Amino acid sequence: MTGRTSELIETPRLLLRRPTADDAEAIFSRYASDPEVTRYVGWPRHTSVDDTRAFLAFSESLWGRWPAGPCVILGRDDGRLLGSTGLIFETPSRAATGYVLAQDAWGRGFATEALGAMVDLARKTGVLRLYALCHHAHRASVRVLEKGGFSREATLRRYADFPNLSPGEAQDVLCYSRILE
Ligand SMILES: CC(C)(COP(=O)(O)OP(=O)(O)OC[C@H]1O[C@@H](n2cnc3c(N)ncnc32)[C@H](O)[C@@H]1OP(=O)(O)O)[C@@H](O)C(=O)NCCC(=O)NCCS
Repeated sequence: MTGRTSELIETPRLLLRRPTADDAEAIFSRYASDPEVTRYVGWPRHTSVDDTRAFLAFSESLWGRWPAGPCVILGRDDGRLLGSTGLIFETPSRAATGYVLAQDAWGRGFATEALGAMVDLARKTGVLRLYALCHHAHRASVRVLEKGGFSREATLRRYADFPNLSPGEAQDVLCYSRILE
């Protein structure tokens, strides 16, 4: 049922793989420090590449414990770093996912393509429940989840802090899931 992923996933236009320490500068400059990109994410915008290195250490710890973890997204044609996604396991059969792309990669269907890859990876690694949370007003993210075959389960009221949007003021969050049987 379960097993480690090969750590390299190919889709028609993307390569997805486990991040390495060498990705720090690109992650920082391409998206993690960008105020527009990080508006609706659940982690504080990176203010120095040390923040990015801390994320990479966290990623390594997840990959060490579970069949998969965070993944960087690269363009297949030129190898350029476009963003990140991944699986965050909570139990062997339950994982969360999400996606974040550099601004110049928006609006081309890449998030939908990356989400499809995460669904396949989740299925291969034994996940039964794959879910995602997003800010109630984040229409683009909702659309990506709908296109990815996820169903809206609930509005979790005053559920989560969005540190780059409204620090200290929990916001309503939409919960989407896909059952992989
Ligand atoms: C959200 C994000 C991942 C979308 O990536 P993307 O590659 O542009 O997404 P896709 O092209 O696959 O699909 C986006 C869909 O949303 C739609 N959309 C975009 N902006 C929209 C808006 N303001 N209102 C309604 N729909 C919108 C697009 O039209 C498209 O739907 P369509 O194919 O039916 O036309 C990207 O904008 C991003 O990285 N944002 C910053 C990080 C972030 O917020 N991540 C999500 C945290 S939950």
